[in-house]
Amino acid sequence: MITLFKNPSQIITVETNGLNFKRGISMNAISLLENHSLLIEDGKILDLIPNNSLGRKKFDQIIDLKDKVILPGLIDCHTHTAFAGSRSGEFRERLAGVSYEEIAEKGGGINSTVRSVRQSSLEDLVELMKPRIQRFIQQGVTTLEIKSGYGLSYFDEIKILKALDQIKQWSAITIIPTFLGAHTFPPEYQHEKNGYIKLLTEQILPYVAQNKLAKFCDGFCEKTAFNSNEIDQIFTVATELGLPLKLHTEQFNNIGGLETALKHNATSVDHLEVLADTDIQKLSKSETVSVLLPGVSFFLNYGFAPARKLIENDAIVALATDYNPGSSHISNLHLIISMACISMGMSVEEAISAVTINAAKALGLENEVGSLEIGKSADLMVLDTTEFSDLVYFVGENKNYMTIKNGNIIYQKSE
Ligand code: NIG
Ligand code: FE
Repeated sequence: MITLFKNPSQIITVETNGLNFKRGISMNAISLLENHSLLIEDGKILDLIPNNSLGRKKFDQIIDLKDKVILPGLIDCHTHTAFAGSRSGEFRERLAGVSYEEIAEKGGGINSTVRSVRQSSLEDLVELMKPRIQRFIQQGVTTLEIKSGYGLSYFDEIKILKALDQIKQWSAITIIPTFLGAHTFPPEYQHEKNGYIKLLTEQILPYVAQNKLAKFCDGFCEKTAFNSNEIDQIFTVATELGLPLKLHTEQFNNIGGLETALKHNATSVDHLEVLADTDIQKLSKSETVSVLLPGVSFFLNYGFAPARKLIENDAIVALATDYNPGSSHISNLHLIISMACISMGMSVEEAISAVTINAAKALGLENEVGSLEIGKSADLMVLDTTEFSDLVYFVGENKNYMTIKNGNIIYQKSE
């Protein structure tokens, strides 16, 4: 079946000429087409053709976009959507001056959400996630990564990953599950850290890999979580088991996480708020994606990651919400893009590349999604405006009109 999407005001293709990611200032080249139409066949991009060559061809279906903008479907490549409970009490403490790290040190923070998740059943987690995923779809998100990491026991980590497996079947968009057993040490292992690493490497990781419950293994390298030797041990085992890697690193302290992630050829390094100037060069040649999370800097009120320096040094930069109850209780990816432009100095074009093709690369999906190139999945969003920059300019407002996944309309704004 061939569908014609006709009369868009603009089509932003984020064309890569087959490279499937954008490094440094090439993130500004997002390929704007006017007077073109988009053809989709069996869920894939068939062609982008000038309107004057449409002629009298027949199509199975025609969708008139009435001067709206077509963009690749957005990709949120870093979220913790599988959480239960609320941390509004901690939020209020922080507003009164207590720091995020102080809260973590006294047993709150990640471990507070761990308590709530342990009390929730697999079914509870599935039901909690459904409306959250709907909110992403309404924004034009067509691929969403979700991490475990609030179970921190054999039973509870696998419970979360199995809940994600059910969500994958239920969801109209692609859900990418990531195993984050190395998020922090759970209370029962606070004084027996090696015991937890053994549990992760000898029991949970092998089960996760054998049962294909996660696409990636992630960790948190930080003073309040794992040191770089511990991450190294976990990453060595994950690699042996065939799991590609991601790492939360350089968030508050530089303790060797970046080095370890690059040594293991991680798919992405995420956060980087305190990335040292001397380390920026290390990302300029590697294909490891730098995933920046401005929502965290805003929500915790500290410095933003050096987006400009990374881009000027040829890094591959992606942006994500980091949606979670403690450090970025923000599920609005449009707001994140606006923050990246206003507070991190990114251009509108760079921000768009960062939530499309580069976010796809951060999930190992760059050959399938992230740009509107012939043969790729027909994952799109349609903006209810004639000008693509409005995605960023209407701060925090949802200008998405239509979400299309594999050629099917899965959301349309009511008129
Ligand atoms: O990406 N940095 C570690 N993990 C999450 C926060 C999790 C939480 O506070 O619940 C993050 O910021
Ligand atoms: Fe995170």
